[in-house]
Amino acid sequence: MPDNLADPAFHANPHPAYASWRREGPTRKVRLASGLEAWLITRYDEARQALTDPRFSKNGGDDNHPSSAIDRALSRHMLAVDPPDHTRLRRLVSAAFTARRIEAMRPRIEAITAELLDAFPSGGAPFDLIDAFAFPLPIQVICELLGIPADDRDAFRAWSNIIVGGVAYRDQFPGAAAAMVGYIQGLLAARRAEPGDDLLSGLIQVRDSGDSLTEDELVSMVFLLLIAGHETTVNLIGNGVYLLLSRRERWERLCAEPALIPAAIEEFLRYESPVETATFRITSEPVTIGDRTIPAHAPVLIGLLSANHDEARFPDAAEVVLDRPQNPHLAFGHGIHYCLGAPLARLEAQIAFTGLTSRYPGLALAAAESDLAWRPGLLLRGLFTLPVTPGQPA
Ligand code: HEM
Repeated sequence: MPDNLADPAFHANPHPAYASWRREGPTRKVRLASGLEAWLITRYDEARQALTDPRFSKNGGDDNHPSSAIDRALSRHMLAVDPPDHTRLRRLVSAAFTARRIEAMRPRIEAITAELLDAFPSGGAPFDLIDAFAFPLPIQVICELLGIPADDRDAFRAWSNIIVGGVAYRDQFPGAAAAMVGYIQGLLAARRAEPGDDLLSGLIQVRDSGDSLTEDELVSMVFLLLIAGHETTVNLIGNGVYLLLSRRERWERLCAEPALIPAAIEEFLRYESPVETATFRITSEPVTIGDRTIPAHAPVLIGLLSANHDEARFPDAAEVVLDRPQNPHLAFGHGIHYCLGAPLARLEAQIAFTGLTSRYPGLALAAAESDLAWRPGLLLRGLFTLPVTPGQPA
């Protein structure tokens, strides 16, 4: 009988379940909250291998034709397609995400971070760190990179929450998807009328000057960058602060030894991976892993969080080791779909944790660990809210 992943207790702490599944084998059948049965890959070596195996494809060897115009406009992005489309779409934006281009954004990211930290409520009252910091920082950055107004962020935060939230929001999904597509089409129309020096204008120019990008692909690309640009980084910051504050000695160590911040961020990525399972693959033919064969055309989830806790790969896998010397986690994926935004996410997190620890060394959790609510769904791992008190600013 496949395991049921709809249980909120699973999301509150999925680690014991993954650990026992890894012991049983590298792959198993699970039943998702939607009722769909899928195969889940649980161990590190098999997960890493699957991420580079073209038999785990995005369309199972068939051209997928989503039925509605809205679905089409959201599903023609690089993360939803195989080569050669994937190669073409990724190449169009990869220059904007190189480590050098991202490093050039440092002063602007530092300024946004400082502004948000300045605005923390004074007087010691509890506030939500997700709302005040972990969410607005990456959304502001990705909006500036794309060249779109950050004022609309609360609207697309709500839509995007529903779109990535899976079955928990099934009824609201069509409305949110339509609103998001309409919003992106409006942005494109505005930029077409008044081009600027931003990524959005650049993409519009590619679209309008040849046949290397369709209109659906353009809308999908903006959709992917907007969603991937903030739904994940908010959780890296939120999960990291949670891991630090829930064991005070970790927080104090990072405040005392800021040189550890880059290694600590890799450990947050490993331990509470913001992307819990990679996006769906479909087998294009039968694939044998260990003693089990996944049939052709089967949906497959690659368990990144589970792989990142594999005792066979990580010594003391169940411990948070802030200065872990080697950390080859799969939190950004692997292979052709390896996260395009990894340098940006790492830079944002470094600036965020440097700012938080230096400005608010007295930051403390303002809720019992058992009262923290984790978001439902298997795709993203993150907290809805993270109540904290600021302590005395430094
Ligand atoms: C792909 C994780 C931040 C853009 C991916 C994948 C993962 C991932 C696991 C591969 C998914 C798969 O193979 O199914 C993360 C994490 C982040 C983060 C953990 C933050 C901590 C970002 C940011 C951007 C971004 C800031 C910037 C826009 C993308 C894009 C892809 C991707 C465009 C698709 C790449 C492709 O298909 O070739 N990300 N991501 N990500 N990510 Fe990120």
